[in-house]
Amino acid sequence: MIDSHSLDPDAQGILATALGLAQVMGRAERLGPVAVSPQPWSGPVPQAPCDIADVLGRAREHRLETGERIQAGAHHTPPELARNLAQQALDGRQPQRVLDPCCGAGVFLCAVGEARLRRGEDPLAGLQGWDRDPLAAYTTRLVLALAFGLPLDDERIRCCDALEVDWPEVDLVITNPPFVSSGLSKGGLGPEKREQLRKRFPIGFQKRSDLAGAFVEGAVQSTAQGGRVALVLPESLLATQAAQALRDWLTETAPPSQIHLLGSDLFPDAQVRTATWRLERGTPIESFNLESRSPWTQRTVPAEQLRQAPWSAVVVSPHPLPEIETPVDVTPLADRAQLRRGFTDDFYFLARAIAEANSPHPPHPVVSVGLVDPGRHWWGERRAKIAGQWYERPALDPEALANEDPKRAARVLATQRGRRLVLATRSAVLECCAVEGGMIAQVPLITLSSHDPDELGLIYAQLLSPFATAWYLSRYGHLDQTGAGVDLRVPALAEMPMRPWPAVANSERNELHRRLEALAAHPGSTELKAVQCFALDLMGQPREQLMTWWWERLPKKLIAGYNR
Ligand SMILES: C[S@@+](CC[C@H](N)C(=O)[O-])C[C@H]1O[C@@H](n2cnc3c(N)ncnc32)[C@H](O)[C@@H]1O
Repeated sequence: MIDSHSLDPDAQGILATALGLAQVMGRAERLGPVAVSPQPWSGPVPQAPCDIADVLGRAREHRLETGERIQAGAHHTPPELARNLAQQALDGRQPQRVLDPCCGAGVFLCAVGEARLRRGEDPLAGLQGWDRDPLAAYTTRLVLALAFGLPLDDERIRCCDALEVDWPEVDLVITNPPFVSSGLSKGGLGPEKREQLRKRFPIGFQKRSDLAGAFVEGAVQSTAQGGRVALVLPESLLATQAAQALRDWLTETAPPSQIHLLGSDLFPDAQVRTATWRLERGTPIESFNLESRSPWTQRTVPAEQLRQAPWSAVVVSPHPLPEIETPVDVTPLADRAQLRRGFTDDFYFLARAIAEANSPHPPHPVVSVGLVDPGRHWWGERRAKIAGQWYERPALDPEALANEDPKRAARVLATQRGRRLVLATRSAVLECCAVEGGMIAQVPLITLSSHDPDELGLIYAQLLSPFATAWYLSRYGHLDQTGAGVDLRVPALAEMPMRPWPAVANSERNELHRRLEALAAHPGSTELKAVQCFALDLMGQPREQLMTWWWERLPKKLIAGYNR
């Protein structure tokens, strides 16, 4: 009998869910007698091992606080992805020793087990799973017991810190390690821990490295020659300077035979672009398979290219930039408008005077980067996180600001007058929307203003057009570490070519106003596309290719917003 009294309340909760599940699956005996009441299961009954891991993995995730989850990098992998990766990892191989060093709820162990069962092999032979979180290790035990009848006390599932223990030699490491970028890990890992990791993983974990790099090095080092490593990783590992040494090392020791770019929709609350890698330990390869999910593209790339050019140039940029020609009769944006980015200090200064609005129309609503999408903002409709705090309707209290420092308050507020455009600084496409006087644009939004409202409208349309994003990426795409997004900087934006009013006929002005008004009244995809097409025509750019490219770059959740 499991000594369920010694379990903490979270583990008892998962056990209760597992018991409920076991009862509807007719497998209660696999968990043995326990002193916990089952939580009756009313959802669809999971059919396959990975689906059991999915159900119990979600139960575990729900028990972690958001902060804890981010710190641990605990985002569980959807079963379909785990199955795909396991299939790739086992393709043409029968690895005897398999390790997932960050097993979460055990979805990869289940995916390997499922694939082996289909081949008539023992699903559990030589499998090992580790997780630093006792609740995760316990959840994996429950999952494997329910899925394959593994005894609950089997020692193949361990609670340990993979970055501290010795890794055994294996034939396959398959895992989704925590992604903890340097900023976060600075907070989470003290300098001592970082130093210790640098010593232990000198190639994968350097200054500013993502923690995932340490797992890549650990995985490759422990994999026997001829074995494989299959991982879910942040896309940035394909491009960042901090992972350059790791990539160079992999090119020689464990080159990739598959890289699949998955975009940013995999872990909705982590907002990170991900990719799966399959590495061949010690096996020279001639070419690798490169797939991108959205839009779906697939190529076979000669491996030699990874030696001749940075990996980012070969594999990132799943949406190749369309060719654009700068139109004639244009002037730089800086000649037509004032551009300004607030100081980082102002972010905290403003944040201290922000509170939840007590009316639906406060005089100074605050719009933050998370609220800005192309052609619209979501103030009052989407929650905003500002300086670690969530608001339904964030609003600035100018008195509170003035009380803190009247001169500084006056300076900051002077930059926030009148109708302006605001632009997000990190995004997949250029994200720009109009805000009215009184509204406060929180740092790091870039503000663009002009005395001439006609001019502002014309600039707005051109910034929304796919041409602007393509132009920016073609010149400044390298500023973004992943090589895949817009990292907007004022001096770079200032050079953007714009068609000025004198070049535009009166009838066209009226048409533009009509389209912008329609967008303001109802910011849907039809209205946005109408403005974009107007701007492309005005700039003499072909519509079809640029429009398709821009809308394919747009993250799915943004597209959903336009189609509501
Ligand atoms: C991104 S989740 C993946 C979980 C699971 N493999 C899946 O794909 O569903 C990362 C897991 O790694 C665990 N983890 C984080 N740091 C670890 C470490 N140093 N050693 C072992 N596990 C760790 C977390 O507790 C979390 O369960």
